[in-house]
Amino acid sequence: MTNHSLRDKVAVIAGGAKNLGGLISTTFAAEGANIVLHYHGDGTRDDAEKTLDAVRQTGVRAVAVQGDLTQVADVVRLFDVAIDSFGGVDVAVNTSGRVLRKPILETTETEYDEMFAINAKAAYFFLREAGKRLNDEGKIISLATSLLAAYTDGYSTYAGGKAPLEHFVRAASKEFAPRGISVNNVAPGPMDTPFFYPQETPERVEFHKSQALKNQLTQIEDIVPLIKFLATDGWWITGQTLFANGGYTTR
Ligand SMILES: NC(=O)c1ccc[n+]([C@@H]2O[C@H](COP(=O)([O-])OP(=O)(O)OC[C@H]3O[C@@H](n4cnc5c(N)ncnc54)[C@H](OP(=O)(O)O)[C@@H]3O)[C@@H](O)[C@H]2O)c1
Repeated sequence: MTNHSLRDKVAVIAGGAKNLGGLISTTFAAEGANIVLHYHGDGTRDDAEKTLDAVRQTGVRAVAVQGDLTQVADVVRLFDVAIDSFGGVDVAVNTSGRVLRKPILETTETEYDEMFAINAKAAYFFLREAGKRLNDEGKIISLATSLLAAYTDGYSTYAGGKAPLEHFVRAASKEFAPRGISVNNVAPGPMDTPFFYPQETPERVEFHKSQALKNQLTQIEDIVPLIKFLATDGWWITGQTLFANGGYTTR
């Protein structure tokens, strides 16, 4: 049987400096994976350095790469750095994304283009590069959202921008199957990170909590084990979007 542990593997974590991605970086490192930690904004550099230190303290090797993943050249460069640094890549996780809550009638062309660039285009070309560059039996995991299963207002360009991921993984799972590469999305519910709050009111936060187990938001600590599972013993799952939201939606 193939060894699906993370020990001595190489993992590219896009958005791997902070919040969900930061915990994925340190958790995978604790399991023995060498980490290629991608971050985006200059304002995230300090988080990237702190997480890189925490990763290295586990005894694995790690490099950081800054890039705007809406630029295909930066996606390609991320995998170039990974292969130049470690000789190959086994796991690729894409946590990058941007949220906007705005009525359709007020949404500008620029907002639409920016939202689809990071949520759909970047996800697509991350998948393409991972499919080209991963070692056989690799694992690819992308972050979607439970809003894909919700019926709500305001998130047309966010949920709409993430919606293509469901089809991307279906196609990719068939196309990458001959090399044993599994491809999935994880779709958390409203998650307790700084990403979630700016576009919500306190009343709406309470409503979101009320829709899930124990009246609480999704925690990053509840999502990382699922991502770790998909990257290891859960390899037989492929082409799926796994909703993890404490019962917030019906799937
Ligand atoms: N929090 C929630 O309620 C929630 C719920 C369901 C799903 N999700 C999804 O879970 C993922 C992680 O979210 P999170 O809550 O952990 O928040 P987060 O840390 O803000 O994650 C988003 C990441 O995307 C990066 N990013 C933004 N624009 C980028 C670009 N052009 N190129 C490359 N990277 C870019 C951000 O980097 P910078 O900050 O440096 O720009 C950040 O690292 C996201 O995909 C999000 O859509 C979140």
